[in-house]
Amino acid sequence: MSAAMVAGALAAGTLTATNVLADGGGASDERALAPVRGAPDRSVERRVDRLLARMTTEEKLQQVQLLSDGQITDEDARAGVGGVFSLTDPARIDELQRIAMTESRLKIPILFAFDTIHGYRTIFPVPLGAASSFDPDVARTDAKIGARESTTVGIKQIYSPMVDLSHEPRWGRIVEGNGEDPYLGSVFAAARVKGAQGDDYSRPDRAITSVKHFVAYGEPEGGRDYDTTDLSEQRLRNLYLPPFKAAIEAGADTVMCSFNAINGVPGCANPYTETDILKKEWGFDGFVESDYTAVTETINHGTAADDAEAGANALMAGTDSEMVSTTIRDHGEELLADGRITMKRLDDAVRRILRVKFRAGLFERPYVDQAKAVDPASFLTPADREAARTAAGRSMVLLQNDDRTLPLDPAKNTAVIGPLADSQHDLLGPWWGRGEDADVVSVLSGITAGSTGTTTYAQGCALSNEEPADYDPAEDCPSDAGFAEAVAAANAADQVVLAVGETREMSGEAATRSTLDLPGRQEELIDAIAATGKPVVVVLLNGRPLTLGDVVDSAPAVLEAWFPGVEGGNAVADVVFGEVNPGGKLPVSFPQRLGQVPIYYNHEPTGRPCDVTQKYNSRYRDLRSCDPLFPFGFGLSYTTFDISDLRLSRSTVSRKGRVVASMTVTNTGDVAGDEVAQLYLRDPVASISQPVRRLRGFERVTLEPGASTTVRFTLDASDFGFYDNRGRFVVEPGEIQVYAGADSTATLTKSFQVTR
Ligand code: NOJ
Repeated sequence: MSAAMVAGALAAGTLTATNVLADGGGASDERALAPVRGAPDRSVERRVDRLLARMTTEEKLQQVQLLSDGQITDEDARAGVGGVFSLTDPARIDELQRIAMTESRLKIPILFAFDTIHGYRTIFPVPLGAASSFDPDVARTDAKIGARESTTVGIKQIYSPMVDLSHEPRWGRIVEGNGEDPYLGSVFAAARVKGAQGDDYSRPDRAITSVKHFVAYGEPEGGRDYDTTDLSEQRLRNLYLPPFKAAIEAGADTVMCSFNAINGVPGCANPYTETDILKKEWGFDGFVESDYTAVTETINHGTAADDAEAGANALMAGTDSEMVSTTIRDHGEELLADGRITMKRLDDAVRRILRVKFRAGLFERPYVDQAKAVDPASFLTPADREAARTAAGRSMVLLQNDDRTLPLDPAKNTAVIGPLADSQHDLLGPWWGRGEDADVVSVLSGITAGSTGTTTYAQGCALSNEEPADYDPAEDCPSDAGFAEAVAAANAADQVVLAVGETREMSGEAATRSTLDLPGRQEELIDAIAATGKPVVVVLLNGRPLTLGDVVDSAPAVLEAWFPGVEGGNAVADVVFGEVNPGGKLPVSFPQRLGQVPIYYNHEPTGRPCDVTQKYNSRYRDLRSCDPLFPFGFGLSYTTFDISDLRLSRSTVSRKGRVVASMTVTNTGDVAGDEVAQLYLRDPVASISQPVRRLRGFERVTLEPGASTTVRFTLDASDFGFYDNRGRFVVEPGEIQVYAGADSTATLTKSFQVTR
């Protein structure tokens, strides 16, 4: 996966050499990418125009309305409502569609949508886990199967991919995205769009993707969901926008604007991001839907006095479709009469919605194949399960493996211990679509199936799955009463798999935590089991970076399995018993302590870089190192690798030119395994401080013992340029340092010069 591939733009001709290049002063008024869309399909545009010309104002106001499954009525369908989400009963979907297609005046089909985030029925690992695979095929396959299952019941739009970059592990929604890096996030965003849509989302098994949450929803202050964000222009453009752009370039035709405000402007009432950047600069011609009640919530944000003003602000800013709240539908006529919204803008919003519906083939194929929709064989097929198992195995990250504790011997007797060891519910993670707990292979079941020795089980303690109203953190692994039984089980066995972590309720929307420690007394449970001296692997099931200092001090082996989905237990067994050699890497830094947050590898340098032997520099008085516990890109294997021989195809390059960086990856151990070759850049002297490292290429390779391969990355202006604080993409002359290695601390380096 090369840098040039992700932008995909040069190759596709959408990125022209001239518009990325700085002029003599080192800056350009041009944007980095030309509008990402090609010419519109004329026949679609004609159909849109003809239909729009026949619509009354009331019908237009219905078309921009998006209602939930709990809100929708037959009357709404008859009146011509635009979309419905979260309804997945195929019979009811058809019933409403039939009303729209036969009883509404203009017979415009309803667009049905759902949060198929990492699976509809076949639940894959959570996206943060999938990103750990550093293998975009994992995300592509997940999205493809999710789209097929969703469309089978009549869902034509999925609210995925979620591409919010985040430096905030307290924030529960970090689990839904791809971590802290814009490049990795862009590759995965594009992969999910391609997986769900293919090249033509009108195909019956393909779904329209909605990329969300536009934009910079991943940095709420204090990690509190929905909270405010203050952001520089350069960060907006260098960090948060690229995954959205990559998704749109890959074909995403809908975008969901975010709940939060940036720089005081709510995401769904932000003309700069929604209209100036997304629609004008990028040429996006699909539609923007609001997040759930986000339009009326602008009253709480303090930027609108009432619903009428909220609706006017949202529509005029560029929001085309309003989810759940009904401010535009309710007040549209009066807003038009007052001149607070224009018919031109309302027509534009409706045109965008109709365009996507025509492109989706909804007018031709509005109905569900009911026989297929109710046939259990349409979902969670053996092949789907196999794909989910493979994905989960590839997503796991081996954090520690002292004395080659792993792999365990499947012929020996294994004690499976821990509050999550026999959980089916939690393995699905916080977006489980229409997945069912009963579908899930627990860690206990997976280990039992994968072992020829005996398997015993002891829970040790329990975690609370209560929702906030009834949740008391004191109920998470509250006592050591079950520890003795767990220790006895460990002592009686040859080896131990210890499954700890978070419940799925601790991650996802509105699930911020104020600590990153393992909840309750789980660390004490780990200590007690480790003290038996048995080979112990701690299997972590969780949705965010955790503070694991005490865990790695205590347990010899630690495997980050995330929330691994429906086949999670089998995938854990595959890795623990060595059927699968783990090759995942962390897509986000793991801090030593919460107080280090935000901590991320691609930070800007300071005038006084950390030096723990001195006082007056950027450090913590009470920490002996400024590093994270585990850096971005880190992950071990059952074998060892060497990355060497970094070469550059040239030592100077013009701003229009390309440089090929190559490196040799060698399996220096004694079993086959996967390594992720990673390439980072640094611009050491620039007009504004540039990050100390930026990932610009990665490739996951599989090598037999002793085997080597050469990995190549092509770099161009899209890699060595950056956005400045005026929003201009600049490519400045001077040195660019290249780092190659197996994580973000890579030291193997070379450099080249960008010439004027
Ligand atoms: C709110 C969430 O923020 C968003 O991600 C989701 O798609 C919508 N609800 C619809 O369920």
